[in-house]
Amino acid sequence: MCGIVAYIGGEAALPRLIEGLRRLEYRGYDSAGVAVLDGEGLWVRKDVGRVSELAGHLQGGPGTQVGIAHTRWATHGGVTQPNAHPHTDGTGRIAVVHNGIIENSSEIRARLGKRGVTFKSETDTEVLPHLIREAYKGDPLQAVRDALAHVRGTYGIAVVFADAPDVLVVARNGSPLVVGLGRGETVVASDPQAVVAHTRQVVYLQDKEIALVTREGVQVSTLEGREVQLPVETLDGDYGLASKEGFPHFMLKEIHEQPRSIRRALRGRLQLEEGNAKLGGLNMTPRDLVAVNSVISLGCGTSFHAGMAAAMAIEALARVPARAEIASEFRYRHPIIPRDTLYFAISQSGETADTLGAVQEVQLKGGEVMGVVNVVGSTIARTCARGVYVHSGPEIAVASTKAFTSQVAAMLVYTLMMARCTNLSLEQGQLVAKALDAVPGAVAHYLSEPGPIEEAVERIAKARYVLFLGRGFSYPVALEGALKLKEIAYIPSEGYPAGEMKHGPIAMLDPGTPVVFVCPRDGQTEKAISNMMEVKARGAWLIVIHTRGDDEVARLADLAIPVPETADFASPLVTVLPLQLIAYHAGLALGRDVDKPRNLAKSVTVE
Ligand code: G6P
Repeated sequence: MCGIVAYIGGEAALPRLIEGLRRLEYRGYDSAGVAVLDGEGLWVRKDVGRVSELAGHLQGGPGTQVGIAHTRWATHGGVTQPNAHPHTDGTGRIAVVHNGIIENSSEIRARLGKRGVTFKSETDTEVLPHLIREAYKGDPLQAVRDALAHVRGTYGIAVVFADAPDVLVVARNGSPLVVGLGRGETVVASDPQAVVAHTRQVVYLQDKEIALVTREGVQVSTLEGREVQLPVETLDGDYGLASKEGFPHFMLKEIHEQPRSIRRALRGRLQLEEGNAKLGGLNMTPRDLVAVNSVISLGCGTSFHAGMAAAMAIEALARVPARAEIASEFRYRHPIIPRDTLYFAISQSGETADTLGAVQEVQLKGGEVMGVVNVVGSTIARTCARGVYVHSGPEIAVASTKAFTSQVAAMLVYTLMMARCTNLSLEQGQLVAKALDAVPGAVAHYLSEPGPIEEAVERIAKARYVLFLGRGFSYPVALEGALKLKEIAYIPSEGYPAGEMKHGPIAMLDPGTPVVFVCPRDGQTEKAISNMMEVKARGAWLIVIHTRGDDEVARLADLAIPVPETADFASPLVTVLPLQLIAYHAGLALGRDVDKPRNLAKSVTVE
């Protein structure tokens, strides 16, 4: 989603801003733009489309050393050139880039309109440069501070002034900003990815803070004007410009990385001998663990599905009530937060506004939330203070694959830790630990022999509708398979619990409709077989994901895709793999931009 880069230093700003935007591309966007100082004024270029197209239009741009840049993901106003950022005031001497949403922008627009201000875009953002212009009396920092006093909503902003060529002003409320402190240069961005090329020394702005940025560094204060000393931190994550490592797309590379990424989620955490596990970041003693009377996972999209799979495992192994909740719903239904419930906020990016909002609601009501996050130092990780990093490594493709399996793996480690205290004997614990330890091998084995994916894709790519079914641990996998196919191939598809099919979706089945049934051998296989018969009786085309060697199930399929045997609670980690491959290849077959599907964003920082 929207990205910000701002540069002030000793080198030409334009190429540095473009390089920064390139590093933010993975977040998803629809337009891009820059504003740099130009002699006496500002030079602004922006357009719909890719950063590479914008870069092509920058020939002859000024070589000045101060500027701001943005990738936009449309919220207020369509995907058009005027709506792209930066936005300027009436004189074109103040330019602003903004992430987030100004909630009272309509009121402000009406007020400014009455005072003769004309607007060039439909965005909420455009009120900012006009408000700053009205407040500007020669002090850039004070002008932004005064302007923000009129604003309600979320923002990360960077502002450049033609009349103050040696400073930038940035401010944050709800949208992350990190300031990189280089030698004679300072870089501000919404994501550390865009800072590391310059420096690893950073400060993270907090909500309701504003900063004056110069070549020498940054002075931070609160919006009310109190000075703040933020700690300088060192970025120590893997922020290298991600490479496709010979794969045609990041998505395929990330699918194939899963044996390693799952291994990283488990490494150093499983205790095979003790039949137990350890997650240092949770800082929970056995007494703390047994005091937990229920577990709730919060997340969105794929991360919600990971939470569902985890909740089932927690109930099965620890015998403690557990469920997953969609974060955007949870927050607004005035949730009851019992003291003995433990919450997990699951998020790849650690920036999803809905999930962050849910975390804050739980915390406000005195509840305990642990982060289950991939991006080190992200807002959710920092807000939760305690939690687990899933260590899947940078996930660049917009649709999540390896982060899902790492999230499930990390939550299964927690499950074992809790279950060993509540319900499992030493021997049972050892079996669970061993089963988890075997997963990376099983994943590698499947990926080396993925089965008849092409045949499945041939049918699916032509389909008007695809139904994904599963029971028990395979239900969240069915949801995830349908989500992936929608995201990457734009094929109407839905995931359903197989037993529920007869109560509705069965009406969708025509002869030949592809139905993907996730059916590893587990306690529910007999019931699943009955559901398969119902599908077949309608002439639908049945693709079954089954345990290798399970001929009883394979025989029923029009197309059978075998996966290695695993423990039932670990099965989502292998059954999801063919569904990821099907979505990827169906997307390719239909000519989709698989790494950057339309309308989606990697880091969804608005509600
Ligand atoms: C976006 C992405 C999804 C992702 C969801 C949650 O919608 O397109 O792939 O699952 O956000 O993201 P998170 O970073 O919180 O896991």
